[in-house]
Amino acid sequence: MRSEAPVHYDERRETWDVFRYEDVDRVLRDHETFSADRSSSGVDSSDEAGEGMPVLKTMISTDPPEHDRLRGFVNDRFQPGALREYRPRLAELTDELVDGLEDAGRFDFVEEFAIPLPVTVIAELLGIPAERRDQFKEWSDALIARPESPSEEAVQRMQARRETAQREMGQYFAKLLEERESGEGNDLVTLAATTDELRLQEKIGFCMILLLAGNITTTNLLTNAVWCFEEQGIMEAVRSGDIDRKKAIEEVLRYRSPIQEIQRVASENVELGGQQIEAGEVVNVWVGAANRDPEIFDEPETFRPERSPNQHLAFGKGIHYCLGAPLARLEADIALDRLLARFDRLDADLSELQPISSHYGLQFLPCRVN
Ligand code: HEM
Repeated sequence: MRSEAPVHYDERRETWDVFRYEDVDRVLRDHETFSADRSSSGVDSSDEAGEGMPVLKTMISTDPPEHDRLRGFVNDRFQPGALREYRPRLAELTDELVDGLEDAGRFDFVEEFAIPLPVTVIAELLGIPAERRDQFKEWSDALIARPESPSEEAVQRMQARRETAQREMGQYFAKLLEERESGEGNDLVTLAATTDELRLQEKIGFCMILLLAGNITTTNLLTNAVWCFEEQGIMEAVRSGDIDRKKAIEEVLRYRSPIQEIQRVASENVELGGQQIEAGEVVNVWVGAANRDPEIFDEPETFRPERSPNQHLAFGKGIHYCLGAPLARLEADIALDRLLARFDRLDADLSELQPISSHYGLQFLPCRVN
C-alpha cells in the first residue's frame, strides 16, 4: 500500500489511510489543516463518551489554543530532567515486581510484569494509594475496551461498561481533587487540583487521560521488547551492554510500534499524496507503516538494535507528541536493566503468539527465569 497507494480512501470505513513517512509526518505536524478534534467529523471515536455522559475534553482531542492550555500546566513535569528525580523510586517499584518473579520460574510476562508496572508507576505519579491500583487497571481496561463482536448487544455491553468506569473514575477523581485543593504534595493530582488554568471537568479529564494513554502503550513496549530480543537472540548482548539498551528500545518502538494508527480530521480541503481530501473527512495516519518506509529507513524490515539515526514516529509528532515519551523510555530502560540484572537467564517462549486487537502487542508471553 505504501508504494502503490500511499494515500488511499477506505470505502468501508469512509476514511483516508496515509502510509508514507513523509505524508504521516506532514499530517501530524500540520495541526491547522489536520485537526485532532474529532467531534466535528461525526465519526465514532475511541475516547468519546457514551450517550448522556459529559464528553471530557483533554489535550489529546483538542486543537490550540485549548490544547496548549490543557497541556501547558503539566508539560514541564514530564520532561526528562524533571523525571530524573523519580528514577530511584521507579527502580524500587520495578524491583518489587521483579522480586515477585523470583520464585515463579515460569510466568506470564504480560500479566505479571508488563501490565502492573505502568499502572503502578502512573498511580505513584498521580499520588494514588497502592490499594486502589487494581481498581485502576479495571477502569482503564473498560475505557479502552472494544466490543467482543460487531453485534449491537456487544456494542451496548461495551458502552455500558465504559460509562460505568467513566462515572466511577470521574467521581473518584472529583473527590480526590477536592481533598487536595489546598494540598502541597508533589503529585500530579495536587498539581491539577491547585491550578487555576483548568475547570473541574478538565482536571478530571487530565487524570483520566494519563491512565488511558500510558498504560496499554507501555505494557506493549515492554512486551514487544522482550519479544524482539528473544526473536533476535540478543537478550544476552543487551544484558552485557554489548548492545546499547536505549538504542535497542528505540528500535523496538520503530519495529513494533504499540500505536499503529492515529486519527485526524481535515479542517479544510487539502491535497495529500496526489489525492484531494475534503474538509470534514477523517484521515488515519499509519505510524507503523511510516516506521518501515524504505525511503527513510535502511532495510526497514530488519530489526537493527543499534539503528542510528532512528527518527521513528512511534510517539507521534508535532504539538501532540506523546507527553509521556520520556516516562515510557525511562520505565522501559529501568525495567529491562533490573530484569536482566537479576536473573542469569530470561527466556521467552515464542511458540504461540496471540496479538491483542487494539494495539500492537501480545495477549501473553510465557517466560522462564533462572
Ligand atoms: C500522545 C504513543 C506512553 C501520555 C501520544 C501519541 C502517541 C503516543 C503516538 C500521539 C497521539 C496523537 O497525536 O493523537 C505512546 C507510546 C507510549 C506512550 C507508544 C509507550 C510506549 C505514554 C505515557 C503517558 C502518555 C506513559 C503518560 C503517563 C500521553 C498523552 C498524550 C500522548 C497525555 C497526548 C499529548 C497531546 O495531545 O498533547 N502517545 N505513548 N503516553 N501520550 Fe503517549
